[in-house]
Amino acid sequence: MPNEESSHRQLLEFLVAAGVETPLDEHPVDRFALSVPPPGKVEAPPPVPEKQAAPRVAGGAPAPLAPDAAIMEARRLAASAPDLETLRALLDAFEGCALKSTASRLVFADGAPGAPVMIVGEAPGRDEDEIGRPFVGRAGQLLDKMLNAIGLNRENVYVANTVPWRPPGNRTPTPQEIAICLPFITRQIELSAPKILVTMGAPATQTLLGQKEGILRLRGRWFEYGLKGGTIPALATLHPAYLLRQPSQKALAWRDLRALRAKLAHLA
Ligand code: URA
Repeated sequence: MPNEESSHRQLLEFLVAAGVETPLDEHPVDRFALSVPPPGKVEAPPPVPEKQAAPRVAGGAPAPLAPDAAIMEARRLAASAPDLETLRALLDAFEGCALKSTASRLVFADGAPGAPVMIVGEAPGRDEDEIGRPFVGRAGQLLDKMLNAIGLNRENVYVANTVPWRPPGNRTPTPQEIAICLPFITRQIELSAPKILVTMGAPATQTLLGQKEGILRLRGRWFEYGLKGGTIPALATLHPAYLLRQPSQKALAWRDLRALRAKLAHLA
């Protein structure tokens, strides 16, 4: 029979191998109870009360914001940003998302703000966290090849993520983390004002396009994304990190890329 210490050690080793790097909460949080609000149109966030002084815990440090308060604060800040640089600065100073405390830095965007195509991925990984730009690791290199295949590159595409901080161990961001960051990415899309939005992978597609099905059902389909009183076409496609694990699915991604190229030519 393993003694208590060795079973604790085994549990710890298992958690580290599973990618858990940092204990975040002392008490369990039911993240399934916190659902992501449907995205809808992004131009008119509901009015949010003026910022209140953050409550203080013993020792004087500001207490972490409760999830609802964090979402309200994110909406207030995002709505107040007149341009992408201000949005970036506000996001960098935002303390409402726990991912910030485990990430090395903010990963805001890469490519050309205002480009006709905006791509939104899931979340930064290790390389992005080190460098501070989205899609610079292996998945990013594949993304660049995919874009080059249809005549695009980071000079005519703007790239960002659903959440701008690396989740510990590259896990999928929780619905709560996504909900807290959602006002920022929707404002980022609004301020960059692309002609076409491309969502890569399930989290970006489900969050931004308000869908529930899996990405293999959603990919290749065009949706309408509400922007500035109108809509723009939005294409759901497979995430390049998935394609690295499932190279046989590249044929499906190629189909989507050709559809993107055709839509761009049509809109030009
Ligand atoms: N995967 C993403 O979704 N985004 C990145 O920036 C890198 C990998």
